[in-house]
Amino acid sequence: MRELLVDIKALSLEMVTLDGVARVLNGVNLTIHRGDLVGLVGETGCGKSVTAMSIPQLVPQPPARYSGGEVRFLGENVLEKSAEELRRLRSRHIGVVFQDPMTGLNPVFSVEQQMVDALLSKQDLLAATTLGRRWLPSSRMQRRHAQERAIALLRRVGIPEAEKRIHAYPHEFSGGMRQRVLIAMAIAGRPDLLIADEPTTALDVSVQAQILRLIAELVREIDLTVLLITHNMGLVAQLCNRIAVMYAGSVVESGPVRRILREPQHPYTRGLLQAIVTEKTGRGTLQGVPGSVPSLYEPPPGCRFAPRCQEARPQCTAALPRLRQSAPDHQVACVLYEE
Ligand SMILES: Nc1ncnc2c1ncn2[C@@H]1O[C@H](COP(=O)(O)OP(=O)(O)OP(=O)(O)O)[C@@H](O)[C@H]1O
Ligand SMILES: [Mg+2]
Repeated sequence: MRELLVDIKALSLEMVTLDGVARVLNGVNLTIHRGDLVGLVGETGCGKSVTAMSIPQLVPQPPARYSGGEVRFLGENVLEKSAEELRRLRSRHIGVVFQDPMTGLNPVFSVEQQMVDALLSKQDLLAATTLGRRWLPSSRMQRRHAQERAIALLRRVGIPEAEKRIHAYPHEFSGGMRQRVLIAMAIAGRPDLLIADEPTTALDVSVQAQILRLIAELVREIDLTVLLITHNMGLVAQLCNRIAVMYAGSVVESGPVRRILREPQHPYTRGLLQAIVTEKTGRGTLQGVPGSVPSLYEPPPGCRFAPRCQEARPQCTAALPRLRQSAPDHQVACVLYEE
């Protein structure tokens, strides 16, 4: 049995805003095992980013407020961790790559300065490099080793002439190259988990493919586990081994990609899949699912998908269906699959 890395159980989160309290996460359940490449999909605003960023506790509180459930990383509940423990978790165990590569880099420092600083803040990581040193005698030597490691990382993510390019500033890199730099920084600490939140949305199609290929290679090479957030089902089909489908604050279906593509169960997943075969899906619009995502301020009772669901029955509005096993390794939250 593979190690359970992430175990999110019945996680609820509210956003307290000027408009009122939005019930953003409504009992999210999600597990990630070591070595998985999980695709997290769903329409815009359904809570993908908030769910993923709850793992390293990067959702700002306020406005967010956790109102129930837990987020376990390697068995420990991150919601109970101290600021210092969270800092360690983020620098050693979880790497994050965001959608817009410019936001992750500081425009006024060279790539070298940023990478070296990031590496030095992961002190004991240097001990784990090929040099195999337990400690390094002087800070000048530490810096030199960090520089060498930064260049090696840039090479690894496919930056040509890394030893020269490292002195450049972020604006001197193309979008695709900046995203490679961010991936290099995110994997620098050899994290257990890489969270990639729509890492290629801002890039053109050919560059998207290169970045995704890079992520897939890293999964094999350095035993990385990945949570990939995307709107693109096609991409999940190509790259991921598992998929979790979110709708309005809950995971409504999860399981192995091949199985879910062949036999989607939740009416929402079926709609999402129809949407890719019929049309190019725009952000937030789905050809296969009429209607739109409900307000999270006053969500519909019971299953939040019921108002859009062609198979809805009276009991759908009575209670939120639990995510339950519908086949080995396949979970769905829908009354159609309750016995
Ligand atoms: N800082 C915040 N303040 C108030 N509301 C927020 C904040 N961050 C997220 N939300 C709300 O929480 C909900 C879920 O947001 P989230 O970013 O997780 O959606 P998403 O599925 O990642 O969408 P997208 O595909 O557009 O990235 C949205 O309704 C959003 O408006
Ligand atoms: Mg998002």
